[in-house]
Amino acid sequence: MAFFKAKEEQVSLKLLVNTETNKVLFAEAEKDFVDILCSFLTLPLGTIASLLQKESNMGPVTIGCLNKLYRSVENLRLLPSNNSSEDYCRTLKINIDDTQPTKYFMCSKFNDYNYRYHHYLTTGTNKLYCSFGNRLNRSVSLAQLCNGFVKDAATFIVTDNLTVLPHSMDHTLFGLINNLGMQSTSLVKEMTVNVTKKKVLDLLKCSLLSKTPLTDLFLGMKPSIASSRILPYDIKNVIDGGIYITVKLVVRKSSNTILFAQGGQDFADLIIRFLTFPLGGVLRKLEGNSSLGSIDGLYKSITNLNEDNYFKCKEARNRLLTLSVLHYYCNYRFDARNKRIFDAMLFKRDDEDRSNDGNFRKMKLVNTISSMGSPYGQVNRPEMYVVTDDLVVEPLLSPISSLYLLNRFEIPLSDLKEQVVVIGMKESLSILKAALTSTSALTNGLRHLLTKVKAEE
Ligand SMILES: *[C@@H]1O[C@H](CO)[C@@H](O)[C@H](O)[C@H]1NC(C)=O
Ligand SMILES: *[C@@H]1O[C@H](CO)[C@@H](O)[C@H](O)[C@H]1NC(C)=O
Ligand SMILES: *[C@@H]1O[C@H](CO)[C@@H](O)[C@H](O)[C@H]1NC(C)=O
Ligand SMILES: *[C@@H]1O[C@H](CO)[C@@H](O)[C@H](O)[C@H]1NC(C)=O
Ligand SMILES: *[C@@H]1O[C@H](CO)[C@@H](O)[C@H](O)[C@H]1NC(C)=O
Ligand SMILES: *[C@@H]1O[C@H](CO)[C@@H](O)[C@H](O)[C@H]1NC(C)=O
Repeated sequence: MAFFKAKEEQVSLKLLVNTETNKVLFAEAEKDFVDILCSFLTLPLGTIASLLQKESNMGPVTIGCLNKLYRSVENLRLLPSNNSSEDYCRTLKINIDDTQPTKYFMCSKFNDYNYRYHHYLTTGTNKLYCSFGNRLNRSVSLAQLCNGFVKDAATFIVTDNLTVLPHSMDHTLFGLINNLGMQSTSLVKEMTVNVTKKKVLDLLKCSLLSKTPLTDLFLGMKPSIASSRILPYDIKNVIDGGIYITVKLVVRKSSNTILFAQGGQDFADLIIRFLTFPLGGVLRKLEGNSSLGSIDGLYKSITNLNEDNYFKCKEARNRLLTLSVLHYYCNYRFDARNKRIFDAMLFKRDDEDRSNDGNFRKMKLVNTISSMGSPYGQVNRPEMYVVTDDLVVEPLLSPISSLYLLNRFEIPLSDLKEQVVVIGMKESLSILKAALTSTSALTNGLRHLLTKVKAEE
């Protein structure tokens, strides 16, 4: 219990406002604020969904199917591990991600016998064994690769739609104001605001919904939610990711919409795994076209910043782009005489970052799934699942239980048909994209697979 209330952290931000239109032209921001914007891209979709449910100044908001997916998975107690970028975000001045830092454990002692177990790492539990009598119970901490994302001394310009530009010869006040179509500076006023944690949560919500988040947030307007179009995902360049998941779709003939899809654990896990994808990695997969509020511009501008000039370290920029599983590296000093390790530190490294030298040992993460605490236990998870068009995931316990499901929709059987489809990488990305901006993720994501029903005579 705290006996005094700690002073709330805040980040100050200088805004340039057009007094005629009452809109923010741009903000002058320093590291603290830009790091917060960067951190949005590192948040896994599941974390975003849980943050959106929270009250801030704005009340809860909904993004596509994410909230429903999150809640259904929470009810099933199948929430996947929230391995966000804790190592970077811990150093943020204001961090809205309240999830508990992950606990990591490695083998308690090292010797020649269990050398091959050195590389095991576990999260959440310290009850597993590397080898007889040697538990995975040595707590290791995640090392900070660098302090936040952007350099301390850098100054940035952030436009109302969250485009982040470096303050440089290319972006002078004159040029910016000219660009924004203003004839004179007499209508421009400067304003300094304090950004608190609540405001940061508001900002996250606005950034996902609005094209003018700074105006919405600081000049007290409601977020203008541009209704995003669902563009069919252009699937040309998708490499075959080795995903082949067969599912059975239940389609409503009259509207050619999918009511739900029935599949096995692989299908449920494919959908549940969406929640583990960090926003930046999703944007990369979708080539910057998520259609979410101002996120696409934020993503593009941040990834366009020159790595050497503006980022603290190479890994910081890479982290914003990662979707793939990160590898852990452990750096430790081994006391050969006493056969023990000390100073163990854990690093996260990108798949693509090949710059690791011999000092880093590759760690294999074991049992991430079993630490999820499924009520069914690991072995007895249901075999069959139903996923509705808006991505509610439910176990299908028996054939008869699908009757209740069908009844829920109150659609005559004559209007329904079943269709078996195979979901590959391209389909899974397409569902993911539709899930961000629509409440019909399956119908929009799998439209190209739906066989046309001929108008009946
Ligand atoms: C994920 O975060 C939630 C909320 O802080 C926490 O209860 C849960 O244990 C975390 N999951 C894992 C696998 O760390
Ligand atoms: C780890 O487990 C081993 C074997 O059960 C035990 O001897 C040791 O005391 C444990 N260490 C810690 C830090 O709990
Ligand atoms: C921002 O915070 C500082 C320091 O707490 C305070 O002096 C200042 O008045 C605040 N500004 C606004 C606009 O609230
Ligand atoms: C993203 O949008 C751009 C322009 O709007 C378009 O050229 C490109 O094909 C789109 N990419 C994807 C993957 O949809
Ligand atoms: C963001 O706003 C700036 C300035 O108004 C404009 O030039 C730019 O095209 C906008 N970016 C996006 C992605 O809409
Ligand atoms: C993150 O969680 C996913 C899903 O549980 C898991 O597959 C992956 O290995 C984890 N990655 C890290 C770096 O913990």
